Order: sequence, then C-alpha cells, then structure tokens
Amino acid sequence: MSRLLIRPTARLTGAVAVPGDKSITHRAILFAALADGPTVINGYLPADDCLRSLAAVDALGVTVVKEDSPHPRLCIDGKGADALKEPASLLDLGNSGTSLRLLTGMLAGLPFVSVLTGDASLRRRPMRRVIEPLRRMGAELFAWGGGERAPVVVQGRRPLNAIDAELPVASAQLKSALLLAALSADGTTRITEPARSRDHTERMLPQFGARVTVEEGGVSLAGPQRLRGADITVPGDLSSAAFPLVAAAILPSAGVRITAVGVNPTRTGLLELLTAMGAKIGMERPRELSGEPVADLTAQAAELRGVTAAGAQIVSMIDEFPILCVAAAVAKGETVVRDAQELRVKESDRIAAMAAELRKLGAGIEERPDGVRIAGGASLRGAACHSHGDHRIAMALAVAGLAAEGETVVEDVQCIETSFPGFVGLFTRLGADITLVND
Ligand code: S3P
Repeated sequence: MSRLLIRPTARLTGAVAVPGDKSITHRAILFAALADGPTVINGYLPADDCLRSLAAVDALGVTVVKEDSPHPRLCIDGKGADALKEPASLLDLGNSGTSLRLLTGMLAGLPFVSVLTGDASLRRRPMRRVIEPLRRMGAELFAWGGGERAPVVVQGRRPLNAIDAELPVASAQLKSALLLAALSADGTTRITEPARSRDHTERMLPQFGARVTVEEGGVSLAGPQRLRGADITVPGDLSSAAFPLVAAAILPSAGVRITAVGVNPTRTGLLELLTAMGAKIGMERPRELSGEPVADLTAQAAELRGVTAAGAQIVSMIDEFPILCVAAAVAKGETVVRDAQELRVKESDRIAAMAAELRKLGAGIEERPDGVRIAGGASLRGAACHSHGDHRIAMALAVAGLAAEGETVVEDVQCIETSFPGFVGLFTRLGADITLVND
C-alpha cells in the first residue's frame, strides 16, 4: 500500500506540463484500431486507464508500437474493422470507466463475442444506460447484477440498426459508445442529451475521415462509415492541470504556468467557477491541436470566495468536483454544489468521499443527495485521510494537505497512476513538500 506524506507549502512556482488528456487518448486508441492505415498518437497518456484500452485493442489483434521516450507516442497499425478478431480471453479494463463504456459500444458492431470486466470499483458502475440502446441497435448484451453491471458479455452484430437515442444523463461515455456503434449501423443514429457533455468524439471522428453532425441538443452520424488512420497530437489533460492550478490559487505565495493544456469549452467549468471565486487564472497562447483548443494556463495566489455550481455547469466540471471542494473549503463564504448526483457513481462515491475526508481536515462540509454545502474559511489541519481508491480524491486531498497546518497523510494512493503518472514529481518540481512512501 502506498501513501503520500504532505507538509504545509507556502510557495508553489514554476512552469510544467501535465500528461496527455485521458479522454482524448482513449478515443484515439479505439478509432485507430477501427481505422484502415497507420495512426500515430503523439503525447498519449501512458497511465493505467489508457493502457487498458490499449491492451484491449491488442487483444482484438491490432499491432501497437509504444514509445515512452523522449515523448510518449503510439503507432497503431489499423487494418480496418473487418480485420478485428474475437479476443481469446476476458478484456480486463481495470478501473477505467471510459474503456468499459466505449469498448462496449465499439464491440456491439463487431460480429463476435467479447466479455468485458474490471476491478471492484468498475464492476459497481452503471451499465444499463449503455446496454439498452445497444440492444435496440440489434446487438445482444448480458450483464451481471440484473443487467446493470460488468462483467458484460457482448455478441456483436454487423450491420446494426440506426436508432434515435435520448440519453437519460449527460454522459460523454454513453454518447461516445453509441457513436462508435453507429459507425457499424445502417442509417442515421441520432443522439440527444440533457446537457452538452464533452465533445472529444465529435471533434476526433473527422480527423479519422468520418462525418458527424453536431445539432442543437445532440449529435447524429450516418452509418456505416469506415475510418482512416490519422496523426493525432494529444494536449495536456485539464483534469490533471486542475490540481496544480487550484494549489496555486489557494497557497499564500504561488504562481504556476501549465503549458499546452486542452481547453475544450465542454471541459472548462472549473476554470469558470474559479474565476467567479476570484482566482487569478490566465489563458495564454490559444491554439488548436488535432481539432482541440489548447492554451497555456496560469494561476496565482488570490483570496477566494464561495460560489454556487449547478445544472449544465456540473457537466463541464464533472471530474473536477473533488478539487473544487478543496478550493471551496479555504474560500471565504459558502459554496453549494447541486445537480451532481452522477458523482455518486464515479470511481468512488465522490460526494460521500470528499465530505468524509475533508471533514477529517477540519472543513465544514455537509453532504446532500445531489452535492455538498461547504462553509468555507476554516483553517485546515493535517490529518490521516484515505483516497477511497479514487485517483481524483487522492490528488485533491494532497492539495488540501499543502494548505493545511501540520502533516497530512493520504493512504492508498496507487490509484493516482490511473490518470496522472508523475503527479508527485510535478508537485515537487513546483516546490511542494510531498513524499511518496511505498510499503
Ligand atoms: C469521460 C466522461 C465522463 C468523465 C470521465 C471521462 C469520457 O464520464 O467523468 O472521467 O472520456 O468520455 P461520464 O460520461 O460518465 O460523465
């Protein structure tokens, strides 16, 4: 079991780059496996979650060459969807919800049997929302827990039927699963969602030569379509950059620059909320990489005040809730997060986990069914806390520890490897007092 030891840090300064975007890396790997011709993925995220997607396409018979230095790069030799073969054993997707959901959609359109599973956390996450529309498209799927949870057995069909799907929740994993299936369907699949979720799939499909139409309230894709190999450059992950950015905003004497971060507007909810809280966040050198907006982000120490986050805003900061709670705990005044019940079915129940752990550090935080109410301004004090096996909880607590008095211990932090390899090294380079202990 590994743990982090964190001591109060006043000064956090410097310029760093965070690892590649997790969502974009997953999509590039899966599209490359379906495509005809070679794909190169520059700056892919070499973290456990994405390596699970990579192992899955390897099991489908795709040749992958992985380079880790000087920069992470994947070369994937796509031979088209028809060349993919039935995997010889179970696809174990570890902790990765994106791998599980997106692959279920992709495999629904491939004419063989696959079985997808993962760790205890992944086997608790809802799957019916993905399985039901894929059944309507003509694939056969079976799942444990009365059809709700992994392991999931998929008997794919080709072609599938096109459908109109109204998503019960704004979920990019669900939307992307159906778009992957729609590539193998005869006719136009139309997907509507209650709020606009991250649109990396819609932006990347055209890079692989596919046509997808973004409409008011949703997206449609006329199938069947073949993909052709592409050259993709992955920007830094905003969800990882969020940790040093918030650390800089809450520590007394801090200023950091994070270079080449993805700033897709469907992901920037936290930046908008931090700005509304009074944080000094800068976005410089805006540019585009492989269809995605990218910029250098800066953050400086500032006095923060509480804020309310609700409705569609929650969707654009869905993974940033744990670190928003940390900013809110040190801000002056009250912060309320509403309409965020989806957080209860992430890698952990993030509402319960943040309420329990921040309370140990002395924060005034009240758990509500769909969010939290945080009475800001408490002085945090170091304590022993636990990651709940969830990478984003572990990293958020580490940042809280930097702002607390005395030593903070975060137990069970191996999970950080699922999304942010080099987390401790990056914070150490910025001047933070964090040590990783492996027992
Ligand atoms: C993701 C979508 C989000 C997010 C997850 C990654 C994606 O999940 O929480 O970390 O890559 O599509 P939902 O689609 O379930 O909200």
